[in-house]
Amino acid sequence: MNDPSPEELTRLHHLTRLVREHNDRYHRQDDPTITDHAYDRLFGELVELEARWPHLADPDSPTRRVGAKPLEQFASLPHGRPMLSLSNRFTPQDVTDFDRQVVEGLGIAEPVDYHADPKLDGLAINLTYVHGVLESAATRGDGLAGEDVTLQIRTIPVVPLKLLGDQHPHKMEIRGEAFIPLAPFAKMNAQLQRQGEKTFVNPRNAAAGTIRQLDPRITARRPLTLFCYGLGLVEGWILPPTHAQMIQQLAQWGLPVCPEGGVVWGVDGCMDYYSAMAARRHDLPYEIDGVVYKVNRITWQEQLGFRHRDPRWATAHKFPAMEVATVVVAIDVQVGRTGALTPVARLTPVQVGGVEVTNATLHNFEEMARKDVRPGDTVLIRRAGDVIPEVVRVLPQAAPSTSRPPPIPCPSHCPTCGAPVVKPEHETVARCSGGLACPDQRREAIQHFASRRAMDIEGLGEKGCALLLQSGLVATVADLYQLKRYRDHMITLERLGEKSVDNLLAAIDRSRERHLERFLFALGIRDVGEHTATTLARHFGNLEALMAASPDDLLEVAEVGPVVAAHVSVFFSAPHHREMVRQLLEIPQTHWATAAETNLPGEKKPLANQTVVITGTLASMTREQAKTRLETLGAKVSSSVSKKTHFLVAGEDPGSKLQKARNFGVKILDETALLHMLSGP
Ligand code: IVH
Repeated sequence: MNDPSPEELTRLHHLTRLVREHNDRYHRQDDPTITDHAYDRLFGELVELEARWPHLADPDSPTRRVGAKPLEQFASLPHGRPMLSLSNRFTPQDVTDFDRQVVEGLGIAEPVDYHADPKLDGLAINLTYVHGVLESAATRGDGLAGEDVTLQIRTIPVVPLKLLGDQHPHKMEIRGEAFIPLAPFAKMNAQLQRQGEKTFVNPRNAAAGTIRQLDPRITARRPLTLFCYGLGLVEGWILPPTHAQMIQQLAQWGLPVCPEGGVVWGVDGCMDYYSAMAARRHDLPYEIDGVVYKVNRITWQEQLGFRHRDPRWATAHKFPAMEVATVVVAIDVQVGRTGALTPVARLTPVQVGGVEVTNATLHNFEEMARKDVRPGDTVLIRRAGDVIPEVVRVLPQAAPSTSRPPPIPCPSHCPTCGAPVVKPEHETVARCSGGLACPDQRREAIQHFASRRAMDIEGLGEKGCALLLQSGLVATVADLYQLKRYRDHMITLERLGEKSVDNLLAAIDRSRERHLERFLFALGIRDVGEHTATTLARHFGNLEALMAASPDDLLEVAEVGPVVAAHVSVFFSAPHHREMVRQLLEIPQTHWATAAETNLPGEKKPLANQTVVITGTLASMTREQAKTRLETLGAKVSSSVSKKTHFLVAGEDPGSKLQKARNFGVKILDETALLHMLSGP
């Protein structure tokens, strides 16, 4: 073997220091300064150099340790068996290599059975049970000893303090991942923001910050949960022959395990599992950053053993990163339908989670100032699910800070219409005061009105709205319903053929059948989302009654607070809104009835008091349409499956809700059965 060149040797030393530093920032300070992806690359390069010159590797190299030392404030707790990490794979070739190494390591010819499950993006925890009773819980720390977080972990509702059944091992370490699911994460951050406290940039940091709370009472108030995925030290129990059976036993003892895990065969099985999870990634209620394959047979796991920091019998197959670094080319200001001014970072295009991202929101000027984002900065971009990409933070700059341009201030006048910008003291958002006189607000209002969850006017998206406004044919949503008269003129418009004009006119026509609930949501009143719109529609029954309601009348409505009441009153007292609504009410054969009103008097509600959940894609209608039709029959359509769900409607490519429904023993209907039910007896 050749000796390293001086450059290679310097690089090896430099990488050792660098990786150690980033480990510490990530694990100990919860404040990483590079992306996971960039870290993985540095780590991979270090592993490679050390493999070429093992005798030159630092005996204390970060590749042989996992994470960093425990925080001083927590007591240190040694693990009965080291808590190791996993090697990362990114490409199909990487997975093929992993499988080949397993097959060769075992000296077998048959395809290997693997246990596959999602790689949860949280914090690794070691739970120690003695005779079935939770004795302690620790973080991973440096892999040999972690922080004693027993008091914190005991606050997690799903963690059993005593295992179910009897005949437990004398002593057993259970490894799992503590995390905060997405919906509670969003809620918790919103609450922290309202209280003027620091919010978390992602669920992983939130979980880490929550577990490392010295005061367990704070931990108890945060929505932590946990899935168990493996074992450490076990005394007084003979392990079952396979990992899958072991997981099943954990579940029988009452320990929470991920419902998505299962056995797959060979590389093909692994790849299929990966694709299936990648497709469903954004439907899951929690964040995952890949999948994990583990050799299923325990004797084979033992035979394969470990290599430095990770087992040879398991690996992580990572998804494309959801957090990526790029450069801010410029910062523009967008005006939303309620006049809100949103600074938007125009970016050097990057792939984030497999999608090209060119813009990212900075939310509002206060937020932008807090993060101190300026043109030319290198920033971390994050995409979570189908949410708009956002700028997480500025990464350390290569150039000295004096060469940065000054921060961009909040404009005093709307960049589109020139109307004064207003920002009440207690609000974070600055708004254009131009109302519907502002072309941007007008376009956004029409676009929202036509959107799928509002009036669902197919074919009237961003471009269509802009075109109709430019042509002067439409100024408010009421004008949409007069468009039929201008069919011939529309056909002459650029990019609109005869067929698309007729389709659009037909779609507008169909939207007259929407219920009051949707119509109210479509009006785009501030803070009136779908749920509030439904509450208001059911309470007032028709638009005239709602428009005539005083703020006090509105406060009578359950779930309507002073803020929403004020926004509704302000909306309906503005002359331009009153005029628009008056025109809408004059449209023939349109009454924007409530869903309840559409039922004829005396008509039966066969699904009254039944809770229904819809998942997957339906061929004959959208999910929204199915929801409305089920509601017309009296059903309550919910977004999450629970024990109380009466039945689940499962279309093509159903999400995790299907598995959950099965777990709860909830009745499952396919589309044919749904259509049968909707068509009545
Ligand atoms: S198994 C000896 N399974 O990923 C191997 N780990 O990068 C033990 N993780 O430290 C790990 N989901 O914190 C395993 N389904 C899963 C996991 C998982 C998340 C974490 C765990 C581990 C890290 C390794």
